[in-house]
Amino acid sequence: MRLLFYSIVVVICCQFISCSVDPKIKPILPSNDIREIIPEGWPQPVYTFQDNQLSQDKFILGRELFYEEMFSKDNSISCGSCHQGFVAFANAEHRFSHGVDGSLGKRNAPALFNMNWNTSFMWDGGILHIENQPLGPIANPIEMHEDINNAITKLQASNKYKQLFTLAFGDDLINTQRILKAIAQFQGMLYSYNSKYDQYKRGEQDVSFSSQEQNGYLLFQQKCNSCHREPLFTNFEFKNNGLSIDPTIQDSGRAHITGDPLDKYKFKTPSLRNIALTTPYMHDGRFSNLDQVIEHYASGIVDNGTLDPNLSGGISLSAQDKADLKAFLLTLTDYTFINDDRFKDPN
Ligand code: HEC
Ligand code: HEC
Repeated sequence: MRLLFYSIVVVICCQFISCSVDPKIKPILPSNDIREIIPEGWPQPVYTFQDNQLSQDKFILGRELFYEEMFSKDNSISCGSCHQGFVAFANAEHRFSHGVDGSLGKRNAPALFNMNWNTSFMWDGGILHIENQPLGPIANPIEMHEDINNAITKLQASNKYKQLFTLAFGDDLINTQRILKAIAQFQGMLYSYNSKYDQYKRGEQDVSFSSQEQNGYLLFQQKCNSCHREPLFTNFEFKNNGLSIDPTIQDSGRAHITGDPLDKYKFKTPSLRNIALTTPYMHDGRFSNLDQVIEHYASGIVDNGTLDPNLSGGISLSAQDKADLKAFLLTLTDYTFINDDRFKDPN
């Protein structure tokens, strides 16, 4: 019924204004009510689109903005340049992010999904609200290096955006608040919950774990789950997981925000969903594959003063354990998510 309703609205709108959005690829939100789209068994999300009523048109606008290069100084880079959908919105090309003029950041672009559950953003948790997050990369001189007001002037000159803002907000006013709300709708709806692991947990027909995956899962629950907690595969806390300090970058992590020496070298525990896709690993992308990561936990842990006590002395893993653990991590890839046309660049 709802589907039919939206299709009619789209058809009507497209007759009035020469519509640049192809109705065939018009994404359909499963519901405008966030409570109806929480995967079974998951906690309540932190961000519930309060004061930003979820709607299909805002989502579509948000998606256009996410892939919009006008947000960068030289119109060369969009959010989607660094956060690429085919690798769960991480970056497949670079260890450190590459911004306008080829400038280099010092952190690895994280994957983006299930962000309504995040209690903070960035590796150091420096941003607290999903709606404020985009202002960071837009203004950042080594990312998009653009003044938001300049970007707005560029958007105002485009008929496409006049139409899209009108559909989303009722008139063609383009301002920072509307941009942020629309991007939050797109980012917030990037749900990933259909990996083999999820299908297995839901008891879906014909989905089973091999004995290797099963054993890896047990090891994971014993050794990794305290931080990478199911079902989101993170506890959202800042931890030091024993990486050696890179002498040239000296990234102090969480302490950069809090100023507390006890927070030095702590970083936000990343989700391990889609982990097979999101190479390279860690805040500085120092590891290029999962074997290196597992070896780090087994034999590479360094205690530089703030190491998490759960990791002191490392995690003892036999060669078989390492292989099993990796087999389990590979069950966390969600192909439905990365192939979902609703999340792709519509242009
Ligand atoms: C030049 C590459 C680049 C561009 C362009 C870029 N990002 Fe990012 N993004 C990053 C990096 C690197 C980080 C991690 C930064 C940090 O932790 O200090 C990040 C972090 C994030 C996070 C936090 C995720 C989390 O789990 O904490 C979100 C959300 C995000 N970016 C969304 C966006 C949006 C929206 C845009 C466009 C307005 C954008 N990014 C543009 C590289 C980029
Ligand atoms: C004490 C908490 C803690 C435990 C226990 C822990 N991790 Fe982590 N893990 C982290 C933190 C924090 C990071 C990010 C560190 C950074 O980038 O500086 C991380 C990063 C990772 C990454 C890289 C993710 C990415 O997107 O770059 C993988 C993979 C990983 N851990 C797997 C595991 C496995 C497998 C185990 C069990 C053997 C485990 N972790 C145990 C806290 C933990």
